[in-house]
Amino acid sequence: MTAIPTISTTPEGVTIEPRDRKFDFDTALATDWFGNDPFLTTVFNALSISFPTGEKEFIDSIRHYEDRIQDGKLLSEIRGFYRQEGIHSREHRQYNRELCNARGYDLDELEGVYIAMLKKVKSDPKVTSRIRLASTLALEHFTAGLAEVLMKTSYMDEADPAVRELWLWHSMEEMEHKSVAFDVYVQVGGDYVMRKHIMRLALLILGKSVVKVTTRMLRQDKQLWRWKTLKSATRFFFGKTGFVRQYLPHHREFFRKDFHPWDADTRDLLDEWKPRLTG
Ligand SMILES: [Fe+2]
Ligand SMILES: [Fe+2]
Repeated sequence: MTAIPTISTTPEGVTIEPRDRKFDFDTALATDWFGNDPFLTTVFNALSISFPTGEKEFIDSIRHYEDRIQDGKLLSEIRGFYRQEGIHSREHRQYNRELCNARGYDLDELEGVYIAMLKKVKSDPKVTSRIRLASTLALEHFTAGLAEVLMKTSYMDEADPAVRELWLWHSMEEMEHKSVAFDVYVQVGGDYVMRKHIMRLALLILGKSVVKVTTRMLRQDKQLWRWKTLKSATRFFFGKTGFVRQYLPHHREFFRKDFHPWDADTRDLLDEWKPRLTG
């Protein structure tokens, strides 16, 4: 008897394994933990604040289609995906609370930026379940790219070790589940045209909110109109070793018609980091 081929494209050797880790940041979040750089610290803090809202939406958008998936391997990967994202959100919620207590930020107000953005998107009658799934796929490609930069380069070397540990643990699991949303999208008939259009829109909408939250925090810290901030922001967007230039090749891949998340075979990176981050 021949085995029924699976529709999951997660390659051999990769398991979507939730690791129930807890992090102790001590007093790091009260400081400019990312290399004593207020801009970088704030951008990553602003991203952290987006995760509980964003990751719940990722789970919901996939859950909507779950009953259309018959494939056992993909179904178990979907469950692994829910659990990983659930634990990420829990740890980022804790991070966000500690951060806001330590620095005097209003968490409800900052998180409210993302909640309002998502509410607006979801209330638009043109935004179908398929579009929400395509947005998840797009933003999962973003998190997989962020993961690749953090795990492959020295980008985070100057960050506080306790905070870096959380970002790398999250990165590793994002990398493990990077094709789950893609597989579900293909399985329910998602097409290339929607995929590429939604990528542009989703990044634009998320980017706008991240800029808003970052700006609010920098303003409150009286760091917004500082030379140091401007210099760091310029390096972030345009510098050769800045985040955007390191991320861009990954981003462009998504626009190939035959793109697949595992075209970038990152199993070596997972093998390298797993023993250090499993806890
Ligand atoms: Fe996550
Ligand atoms: Fe994810």
